[in-house]
Amino acid sequence: MNPSPGLSPGTPILLTGGAGFIGSHLAERLLGAGAHVTILDDLNGAYATHLKQENLRQVSEQGSFDFLQMDIANPEQLQSALSGKSYEVVIHLAARTGVRSSLTQPLLYGQVNLQGTLGLLELARRGMCRQFIFGSSSSVYGPRQRPDLAMHKFARAIDENRPVTLFGDGSSMRDYTYVDDIVDRIAAALALKVGFEVFHLGSGNPIPLKRMVHLLERALGKPALLRMQADQAADMPVTHADLGKAARVLGYAPKVPFEEGLARFTAWFRNTSRRTGLPETTEKRQKKTELSTKGH
Ligand SMILES: NC(=O)c1ccc[n+]([C@@H]2O[C@H](COP(=O)([O-])OP(=O)(O)OC[C@H]3O[C@@H](n4cnc5c(N)ncnc54)[C@H](O)[C@@H]3O)[C@@H](O)[C@H]2O)c1
Repeated sequence: MNPSPGLSPGTPILLTGGAGFIGSHLAERLLGAGAHVTILDDLNGAYATHLKQENLRQVSEQGSFDFLQMDIANPEQLQSALSGKSYEVVIHLAARTGVRSSLTQPLLYGQVNLQGTLGLLELARRGMCRQFIFGSSSSVYGPRQRPDLAMHKFARAIDENRPVTLFGDGSSMRDYTYVDDIVDRIAAALALKVGFEVFHLGSGNPIPLKRMVHLLERALGKPALLRMQADQAADMPVTHADLGKAARVLGYAPKVPFEEGLARFTAWFRNTSRRTGLPETTEKRQKKTELSTKGH
């Protein structure tokens, strides 16, 4: 059992989005520290549901947990599942993720990310938990990374000798943060006894897109067939976290250098992701169904 400050064995924790990339890593960490974890997730098809089920299967190897399959954007479901429940901490990571889809499905993003979060905050305000931890955006990577994120998409394209589409001239930069560094600090935040605070968790060391592709080529032993396209409207030119406050208050210092994290990601990609096949998004599946319906 890994000791974690602020966490005594049996501490009841509600973790939303626990079947996802970051959530499943965090669930393992919490179970390893002896917490009583309830995972809430709707297992939606934004990317393949079987990948989320596989994440849950891996979490279950760490210990048993309760599972609520439900949609946080549905206020009735939220009420009936959670009212009267009591947790020490709610860690809220369920969200519609993916920046570009937020432009095509703004209402859905609003319902889940805004209304769903408000629904949980309202339950928290009425006494559901002592502490509420909520994650927002950055660039987290590592094993189990979402298939829609650039590093995973590029690795798959290089591996399958398909073109890698780069938006912009490759000079955009991301403050890539290894998933264990994020999970460590979320776990450390459980010990905080403060009011509302915002922390930046990142690497503090932005990496140019071209360098990320170059390291992937090296790790996978194949050149990328680059296809350059114009910048995307939703993309930031640079993300760069200011780690000062997280270092002072949470003792945060990222431990995994980018080269090492990327090597761990590609090792996972070779061993696991390759075998699970190309994940489909709901949108792609819907389009296929529409096409086949039209064609018959
Ligand atoms: N991956 C990153 O680079 C990154 C970086 C920083 C922060 N974040 C944030 O961390 C959180 C988790 O991200 P992730 O990369 O693990 O994404 P993910 O998509 O793998 O996980 C999100 C989970 O939330 C679930 N979910 C979505 N809508 C839901 C709903 N209406 N009801 C219940 N469950 C629902 C999904 O099924 C999924 O399992 C998100 O808030 C995301 O914005 C992600």
